Amino acid sequence: MSAWLITGGAGFIGSNFVRAVAADAPAPIVVLDALTYSGNLASIAELIEARRIQFVHADIRDPDTLTELFARHDFQRVVHFAAESHVDRSILGPRAFVETNVVGTLNLLAAARDRWQGNFAQRLFLHISTDEVFGTLAATEPPFNESTPYAPNSPYAASKAASDHLVRAWHHTYGFPAIITNCSNNYGPWQFPEKLIPLMILNAIEGRELPVYGDGLQVRDWLHVADHCDALRVVLERGTVGATYCIGGGQQHTNLQVVSSICDLVSERLGQAPRAARRLIRHVEDRPGHDRRYAIDSGKVRRELGWSPRFDLMASLPELVDWYLAHADWVAGIRSGDYLRFYEQQYSHRLRKTS
Ligand code: NAD
Ligand code: TYD
Repeated sequence: MSAWLITGGAGFIGSNFVRAVAADAPAPIVVLDALTYSGNLASIAELIEARRIQFVHADIRDPDTLTELFARHDFQRVVHFAAESHVDRSILGPRAFVETNVVGTLNLLAAARDRWQGNFAQRLFLHISTDEVFGTLAATEPPFNESTPYAPNSPYAASKAASDHLVRAWHHTYGFPAIITNCSNNYGPWQFPEKLIPLMILNAIEGRELPVYGDGLQVRDWLHVADHCDALRVVLERGTVGATYCIGGGQQHTNLQVVSSICDLVSERLGQAPRAARRLIRHVEDRPGHDRRYAIDSGKVRRELGWSPRFDLMASLPELVDWYLAHADWVAGIRSGDYLRFYEQQYSHRLRKTS
């Protein structure tokens, strides 16, 4: 039976995407996820219970499972989000990034190609990647676009770049029907609190220190996850097979601007003195190899596919702070022993050095 496969659909962007497409997808949806520390069934539990999606607990590192899954379903769309996704974790332990992001993607490409057997009409493999494959920008350089050469700097970025190259080669060599998207930093509900925005929101709410790497003047181009999901839907509907699309929110801010705004919102929501939470900011030892600036030129997806982002970061933060305040149970559930171990390993020595 024909269906869509969404890998990593229990993670941050994947679960937002699953929620967005479940209402009107033209085919049944199968979500595959290994439920690593960042994957959480609670994020899509309602859809599973309502039988709007089918969930498969599986690992893309296991080729046999993928072969069996592709034998059971006639997938017309594969939307591939599953990955190890956090730069700091890739610095602490790069091997898992190669195993999942590179070998896992290879396994998925091989399973799809074996099953599709050259019958590529009406099929599409959408590979979700990152702007980090392009490296870093100086303050005055123009944003990344689809012609920017790859220059990944972190083990995470290198593993994503390798997976992009595999997808590109599958299209070039086998005519495999693939599209790659490279997006900027996402924010929104259901994001695991190891990434900057949810980490800072939760620490500020809990009165914990806010570890800002280095001078905090690094720039990111923030993209609301709902805008990202809209862009992916447009790419699935109208994208050109073999193309790549850069997707960015067009919202460049320094980390300090973002963290300070979060502090002020949390102070206001908790009834503290104005700006009180800013006292929690600590400038800690920088991330090794830290990319200074990312920015995306979304001109191609805007011009060719008619997409444009709707959300403004600063205007969206109040709702996001309220979301994290209202989802304390979800947060408690995902802060497992693994999260606490990672937090200790990543931050305890950095914060000790500043106190
Ligand atoms: P996430 O870490 O929140 O979710 C990743 C999901 O993949 C989790 O549900 C996890 O359980 C699953 N997973 C991990 N290893 C797996 C394996 N071996 N087999 C099956 N499932 C596995 O990540 P995210 O932020 O939702 O990112 C999704 C995709 O978007 C990734 O490919 C990432 O590189 C890319 N991306 C993310 C951002 C961002 O700002 N979050 C920006 C650019 C690109
Ligand atoms: P992050 O959310 O990890 O995304 P990425 O590294 O993929 O851009 O980090 C966003 C920015 O915030 C990045 O410049 C690193 C910085 N940062 C901190 O200053 N402190 C932190 O505790 C974290 C997690 C990130």
